[in-house]
Amino acid sequence: MSTAAPAEWWRTAVIYQIYPRSFSDASGDGIGDLAGITSRLNDLAALGVDAIWLSPFYTSPQKDAGYDVADFTDVDPLFGTLADFDEMVARAHELGLRVIVDIVPNHSSDQHAWFKAALAAGEGSPERARYVFRDGRGEAGELPPNNWHSVFGGPAWTRSVNADGTPGQWFLHLFDSTQPDFDWTNPEVLEEFDRVLRFWLDRGADGFRVDVAHGLIKADGLPDFTFDDDANSMGGTEGPQSPYFGLEGVHDIWRRWRRVVDEYEGDRVLAAEAWVLPLSKMAKWVRSDEMHQAFNFAYLETDWKAADLRGVIDESLEEFGKVGAPSTWVLSNHDVVRHASRLALSAENPQGHGIGPKSLGLPDPVLGLRRGRAASALMLSLPGSAYVYQGEELGLPEAIDIPDEARQDPTWFRTEGERYGRDGCRVPLPWSADAPAYGFNTTGDTWLPQPAEWAGLARDVQLDDPSSTLNLYGRALRLRRELGLAEGEVEWIDGVPEGALAFRTGGIEVWAAVDPGVEVPLPDGEVLLASAPVTDTIPADTTVWLRR
Ligand code: NOJ
Repeated sequence: MSTAAPAEWWRTAVIYQIYPRSFSDASGDGIGDLAGITSRLNDLAALGVDAIWLSPFYTSPQKDAGYDVADFTDVDPLFGTLADFDEMVARAHELGLRVIVDIVPNHSSDQHAWFKAALAAGEGSPERARYVFRDGRGEAGELPPNNWHSVFGGPAWTRSVNADGTPGQWFLHLFDSTQPDFDWTNPEVLEEFDRVLRFWLDRGADGFRVDVAHGLIKADGLPDFTFDDDANSMGGTEGPQSPYFGLEGVHDIWRRWRRVVDEYEGDRVLAAEAWVLPLSKMAKWVRSDEMHQAFNFAYLETDWKAADLRGVIDESLEEFGKVGAPSTWVLSNHDVVRHASRLALSAENPQGHGIGPKSLGLPDPVLGLRRGRAASALMLSLPGSAYVYQGEELGLPEAIDIPDEARQDPTWFRTEGERYGRDGCRVPLPWSADAPAYGFNTTGDTWLPQPAEWAGLARDVQLDDPSSTLNLYGRALRLRRELGLAEGEVEWIDGVPEGALAFRTGGIEVWAAVDPGVEVPLPDGEVLLASAPVTDTIPADTTVWLRR
């Protein structure tokens, strides 16, 4: 019998991201909810994932789809109640699924009790000191305190109004004007978030996905800075040190949080949403006394090109490996164009800009799905932990033809329609081809319209089709577990045709024909998994797992 300690679950886990607004709607109001999630957990367990991560379901005016939190320790009635949360966690745990919740520490909603108190209390008050209020520039304070841009477009400052109706100080918001930034140098803020962490840990949460984990600390004096926000709105590009993203001071916060989660039994985790590059810098977020995982956005942003993929896989394993953390792999989430569309875009599309009817270089859906499936099969073979965003297991494309008047992302409003934003990856899921709202609920209402073609992608249709994307994911996840691929090591096979990739891992070989037009002779062996039909060749945009 082995005496080795059991491996920590998160090192190898497949974590399924639920976007609660769009997963399953038990109440029928058009917006998904916790009871809807609970009712579908069987399907996720059957798919073979290890954990779920839920985007925010807290009390919120929903100006940024719940990332504007008015009460960090309650459930918004839109999504249900704390009792619904408890029931969901209990059911997930019964099924062997861990539950990760989202925590949003950079900012609150402007409807948070603290922010309302800050406005009421006036300049220089302790209430204001929990946020970043400053006097304006210009003779009468009519100009923002510095030149920073909001990630969603427009200035990062909004002027408050005094109790007597006169214009007052400005407050900082790196995101929407309804999302004021906290001042993390204020001990009250630190203590409040310790409480929030403990609240959810006590209720059984297995960990946290930490929103904007590269934000929180701002450079002293808030110096002017022009970030290239056309390149990546969340801040992921390499370049000069930003005064608000990626500052050293954030690491003290994560060490403090690590001490809190370590007080609890059962391997609770912290996963960083830190849009910082290069990966050698991102790896600092997962040093042994900080977080456990960081989303590998370098991988997500890599083009579908063999050489680039090989480079980022090596760099990821090396840089995360150096600090003793697993690499993660992620292709889609609620902020980016779904990868079954993104990988076939033929024009630049910076993160967060989204695509819509007038975008340039719109994807060919057939090519997109083919590449999407090949990319997923490649990702799920890699060692470490993988994130799957709801709907990617159905091969869902980005919804492009959302009417202007239906769009909801603050990016769309703050850029006056110049950027479509992220609604296209947030459309409610299709469960059954013939039901109202494709089975998302029973009333047919949906907060964003579902494309008509999604009937053909509904889960019930795919379950019956052996070649469906859903069955590809199911098979990949089963094999990944059986073969122990998550604990494998990537050993490159040299001499493969240019534009293709091949490596050994976990006793199998993974072959991918990636670059346009590249075809690879199918090596001898048993095909365990193929993202598209293979003959004696592996055609372009196809990944195959082989036992030789
Ligand atoms: C990152 C989240 O993923 C995104 O959806 C949100 O808009 C921003 N952080 C602000 O909280």
